[in-house]
Order: sequence, then C-alpha cells, then structure tokens
Amino acid sequence: METSSIDEIRHAFDEALKSVEHKKDLQDLKVEYLGKKGKVTGLMKEMKNLSEEDKPVYGQKVNEVRTHIQGIIDDTLEKFENEALEAQLKAETIDVSLPGRRFQLGSPHPLSRTIEDIEDFFIGLGYRVAEGYEVETDYYNFEALNLPKSHPARDMQDTFYFSDEILLRTHTSPVQVRTMRSEKGGGPVKIICPGKVYRRDSDDATHSHQFTQIEGLVVDENIRMSDLKGTLQLFAKEIFGPDREIRLRPSYFPFTEPSVEVDISCFNCRGAGCSVCKDSGWIEILGAGMVHPNVLEMAGFDPDKFSGFAFGMGPDRVAMLKYGIEDIRNFYTNDIRFINQFKPTEDGGVHNESI
Ligand code: DAH
Repeated sequence: METSSIDEIRHAFDEALKSVEHKKDLQDLKVEYLGKKGKVTGLMKEMKNLSEEDKPVYGQKVNEVRTHIQGIIDDTLEKFENEALEAQLKAETIDVSLPGRRFQLGSPHPLSRTIEDIEDFFIGLGYRVAEGYEVETDYYNFEALNLPKSHPARDMQDTFYFSDEILLRTHTSPVQVRTMRSEKGGGPVKIICPGKVYRRDSDDATHSHQFTQIEGLVVDENIRMSDLKGTLQLFAKEIFGPDREIRLRPSYFPFTEPSVEVDISCFNCRGAGCSVCKDSGWIEILGAGMVHPNVLEMAGFDPDKFSGFAFGMGPDRVAMLKYGIEDIRNFYTNDIRFINQFKPTEDGGVHNESI
C-alpha cells in the first residue's frame, strides 16, 4: 500500500466533510472512515503486508490521518451540539416585555353571598350551622311538625313525593326536629340551617320549584317572644341597613304558637310607599313563632321546662330585594352575564348592591 493512498483518503474525507450538514451525516462519515470496516481501519490492516522498515513510517502516517479525522469529527460534533442547544434556548426564551394574560376572576353567586352574610350574622350571635336532608320522610317534613296526614295546612306546600313516605323537603323546618332529636332533650339548641327546598310550583318571576330557605331554631329554658323579636330586629338592621324597623303580624303555622309574619320597613322608600313595598311601606321577609309544645314534645323536649322560637326565611327573596333582582329564575339558570354583574368590590361589597 502506497502512502499516496493515505493522502487520497485524507483528501476524500476533507471533501466529504464539506457536504456534511447534520449530525447524522457526520456519524455516517465516522463509520465510513473510522468504523470497523472503515477506510482508515482498512489502511491499518494493510500493515501486515509491509516490510519491517516501511511499517513505522506507514503506521505513523495512518495514525496522523486517523487523528486528523477523529479531531475534525469531534470538533464538528461539538459544533452541531452547540448549535442545537442555542436554537433550543432561542426557541424557549421568554419575552418579558409581552403583556401578561388576564385572569378571568369569577364572582360569587348573589344567592351564595346572601346566605353567607346571613350565616355570618347568626354565627356572630353564637348559632351553629346545621344540615339536613333534601330527600326527607313525610314524618320529619310534616308529622313531627304538628302536621298529621289529614292536616289541611299540608296544602300550603305542594309536595314532590317519591312514595307515600318519601318526599323532597318542602321547607328546612324538618332540620329543627332532627336537631332537637340529636340533642336528646337537653338544651340549649341554637342553630340555623340553610338549604335547598322543593315545591310543585310553576316557575315564574317570583316562584321556582326549587329555591332556598334558612331555618332558625333556639330552644332553652325561658326563651320568650321578646328574644325572637330582638334577634330579628338586629338581623334586619344588619342585612338591610341600620335604620330598618320590623313589624310582627299575627299568622298561622302548625309548628309555632303563636305564629307571626315579619315585615321590615321598606329600604327603598323608607316607609313612604313605593313599588318595592307595593305602597305599604313594609316588606314581608319571614315566618316565625314560638315552637309549638307538640313539636317540642315529639322531638323529645319537655315543653313544661323548655321553650323556643323558630323562624324560616327565603334567601332568594332577601337577595332579590338586596340586589334589585326582578326574576327569581336568574338565580338558577346559570347565565354568566347575570352572575358577572355581581363582581366583588375591594371593600368586600358587591358592585350593584342596591341597598
Ligand atoms: N316552614 C315555613 C315555610 O316554609 C317557614 C317557617 C315559618 C319556618 C315559621 C319556621 C317558622 O321555623 O317558625 O313556609
């Protein structure tokens, strides 16, 4: 083997290198020259055919070529790798001058907000928040509230029945009974219970077959009507404004005796008469009364020792009045345009609070 063929191989490599564009081309070239069956390796294999005196010169030349090729391959590989890294870094750069993406901030549902405000008020007075069941028995929804099967007042609440005994609760009052029972005849009991209730009503601007109520119950020794009145007076001022007054009107509920309906002085016209209060100066907000002795007794409390007051209110109505909402169905149809009108303000209020 002539040393000129060594030079040819070196030259051929240098030429081939010019058309190398990718790492893969370079790897192919490495195999072609330095691989087991490569051209440079082939030169080494020729050694055995040379005379003893030619061997060192030839060997040195082959080594030079191998070092030359190996060096170029290593350098070029490094160049490719650096280029790839740079391209990647460039592609991943963050342009800190770009404007950030705006986060869409949600707004609390006006009904949830109202319920939370009312809860906060009563929790502040030492009440506990109790929960009951939306699927109830006839016993807890009616019978234990002094409404036996044939009672005409059952007609006041048109009911969704699953069977003769199982129904969707028509009010949150069954939670009164469940709570008293779990207290096993020992006071004091002081709870409110917010929750969903159901009635077979046709939906319109003021009726929904599913709506919400908040029940309140206080049972202890010596609880009097004046305690109820004082509590509701405070409630009206807290929720509807400091100069609100309340008025109690005699009413009837089977589970309270005496029973009252409670009005607040109109926040809109301050009693002068307007469309919100239908010119009466008063707005009805809840039903209440002293817990009927039969109810106490059926729930395991001694009516000679214990007395209590109870009330039931509709947060839907409270929220409608408070935020000037005219159609109850807005609460339940999940139109984002409606809910977005109630963005919280920085002071914790709501933008379109009407009171
Ligand atoms: N449960 C009654 C209703 O849905 C509201 C009510 C009235 C609840 C008087 C009470 C109460 O606790 O004392 O119409």
